[in-house]
Amino acid sequence: MLKLVCSDCGKEYSDKDPVWRCSCGGILDLINTPGFKIDKTNPEYRGMWRYRDSIPVNSNSDIISFQEGFTPLLEIDTTEGRLLVKQDHLFPTGSYKDRGASVLISKIKELGIKKVVEDSSGNAGAAVAAYCAKAGIECDIYVPESTSSGKLAQIELYGAKLHRIPGTRENTAMAVMEAAEKIYYASHSWNPWFFQGTKTFAYEVCEQLGWKTPDIVVLPAGNGTLFLGAYIGFRELKEAGIITDLPKMIAVQSANCAPLYKSYLNGSEKPSKVESVPTLAEGIAIAEPVRGTQILNAVQKTNGTVVAVNEEDILLTLKSMIAGGYYIEPTSGAVIAGALNYQKEHKEILKTKIIVTAFTGHGLKSTEKLLNLDTGY
Ligand SMILES: Cc1ncc(COP(=O)(O)O)c(C=O)c1O
Ligand SMILES: [Zn+2]
Repeated sequence: MLKLVCSDCGKEYSDKDPVWRCSCGGILDLINTPGFKIDKTNPEYRGMWRYRDSIPVNSNSDIISFQEGFTPLLEIDTTEGRLLVKQDHLFPTGSYKDRGASVLISKIKELGIKKVVEDSSGNAGAAVAAYCAKAGIECDIYVPESTSSGKLAQIELYGAKLHRIPGTRENTAMAVMEAAEKIYYASHSWNPWFFQGTKTFAYEVCEQLGWKTPDIVVLPAGNGTLFLGAYIGFRELKEAGIITDLPKMIAVQSANCAPLYKSYLNGSEKPSKVESVPTLAEGIAIAEPVRGTQILNAVQKTNGTVVAVNEEDILLTLKSMIAGGYYIEPTSGAVIAGALNYQKEHKEILKTKIIVTAFTGHGLKSTEKLLNLDTGY
């Protein structure tokens, strides 16, 4: 039976319990999920819900969807070789967070919850606000004061109540925690249902490669919601016998806020304490990732690595991507910078390998930041 289980104390909850965290404070994960079902995949349906039977939402009538997903896997030539890039900036709200929001808000509708809170650097908040708007669920979104104005506009215009919190991303996380004592927390980092959406990234990549696994996958790791979702998806594909090996998973952090990179270098299993310096990559500036230990574990299990990109690399990559016609936001540029650095360092080995990454967020969200790239952020 499908259950939520605490990673700290092992306590189990039913999938009908409106919980997002264990009573002991531990992280919850889902067990006994349906797994990947290739024979139930509907190739006629253009979107991530083509894998409907692999996504644990009980009734079709609760599904909240804009027919999102199954984004193009575009090949681009870089200075260092060939990259396959999932165009996840083309989702309805302009970022991959829609994968998680579609499943999470569907589940919340199924649970009969009428109001939620969420915190975010902007994109997850915009995604949750949009799906709540469609579902008729009230929501309050907490964001750092410095969030890009395009994201703030989206959140408010979708009808969510916006709370702009002074200080760091961690101050915003603290503010929402207080609100979450009374109102259900539709958190992209804590809530395990979100990852049942982001896992479709792996399904789609695999299907688009002719049901093959890529050799290497390079994804962002702030809270790692795409990274961990993809890891779940690839594991399910392996368990279903579709692929035999997991891809090496490379987690990209900003050097200005790199708790996982520090741990990777030290051989530590837990996220390290770091000073968070402002970075162009606002979306991955997470000093205390809730599932940091899980991200490090996925890196280790897939024989992957954690890389950190500096501001100069982010800036140069972002400018060259946009000048090439790919209109992405700065955080998305950081992910590509990580992929390019990895390609550069492993040039010989990578010649024959399939390396997949993603455009995670659309440039139109960050107009004022893109206009002021040379003067700071
Ligand atoms: C555009 C973009 N890319 C990447 C990320 C990183 O996501 P995560 O914190 O889940 O690792 C975010 C998060 O907000 C984002 O907005
Ligand atoms: Zn517990």
